[in-house]
Amino acid sequence: MINKMKILILPGDGVGPEVTNEAVKVIHVISDIYSLKIELEYGVFGGVAVDKYNDPFPNETKEKISNCDAVLLGAVGGPQYDNLQKNKKPESGLLSLRKQLNLFINIRPIISFGELINSSTIKSEYINNLDIVIIRELISGLYFGEPRGFNNDQSEAFNTMRYSESEVIRICDYAFKLSQTRTKKLCSVDKANVLEVSQLWRASVNKLSKKFSDVKLNHMYVDNAAMQLVQNPKQFDVIVTENLFGDILSDLASVLTGSIGMLPSASLNEDNFGVYEPIHGSAPDIVNKNIVNPIATILSVAMLFQHTFNRLDIYDHILNSVKLVLKDGKLTKDLSGDNKYVSTSDMGNLIIEKLKDKSSAKKI
Ligand code: IPM
Ligand code: MN
Repeated sequence: MINKMKILILPGDGVGPEVTNEAVKVIHVISDIYSLKIELEYGVFGGVAVDKYNDPFPNETKEKISNCDAVLLGAVGGPQYDNLQKNKKPESGLLSLRKQLNLFINIRPIISFGELINSSTIKSEYINNLDIVIIRELISGLYFGEPRGFNNDQSEAFNTMRYSESEVIRICDYAFKLSQTRTKKLCSVDKANVLEVSQLWRASVNKLSKKFSDVKLNHMYVDNAAMQLVQNPKQFDVIVTENLFGDILSDLASVLTGSIGMLPSASLNEDNFGVYEPIHGSAPDIVNKNIVNPIATILSVAMLFQHTFNRLDIYDHILNSVKLVLKDGKLTKDLSGDNKYVSTSDMGNLIIEKLKDKSSAKKI
């Protein structure tokens, strides 16, 4: 456990500042309760960095990252940046941040909260007590493969899905180890009936599985996995997959939890350095209305304590506090079926009230 923790906050664009604001309130309260020495710093990243420096990932922010223990990110992007050239887009900043920090492990927990069962479009018996983790490979595959581009007259475009055996092995090794701490069931998702890169993926996973004979491994094609996730989600425990498939499947799986506003994520490298962010985007349509759900970002703070600072107790404390607020029937607009909803800042305050109440530190 490190004595002093330095967290860099990158609020980013759209609803990013609103959700990180609530998450920072939570960090302050946790710091008081546990007498932690936490230093917060802020940086510009994404569209706001394009506005200021004409660069979504400016040097100033790179420098700040090299001096911190973990990064909390809000969201990036917005319609005003959509027509910029590729390397100026906020999303490119996010991709180079992931690449430069070697954040190949992306963890997306899909947990259902009892009180939100009716917020999902899926029938409750299929999603109650759901607990899945999607492990998405984050810095290779179609997002990064070369060659890529447009041909000369712009009438054709191409991307390359590419993986090396070692890239597959390192992400699947993480997934196998995670499975060993859970129900020892791992599903590897690919498209091996069509894609060579998936055939390599599958062969590499099979080879690696010999080291993890206690884990029950199965393979599933991505199209089938998408269907199974909606039809019978409880068959899954840990899912491991390549970059683009993981991107798509995790948005799909968010529906099982009631709202994409509930899903946190952690992106880690082999040293447990992490960038923590909600999986939702910058939601330009609801900016500055004080209605965005801050829970995904607050749970990302919980994951930050869990992974970078190795404080499972704080992870549980934050998660329990969120559960208790939901149990009281307090829901943000995205979760509530009617007009009785709490604002972004009220949701932050309600979670803080529960954090301060000692009973929330116990497992519920
Ligand atoms: C995500 C997002 C990003 C991705 C975008 C914003 C580049 O959708 O984190 O899931 O595609 O990885
Ligand atoms: Mn996505």
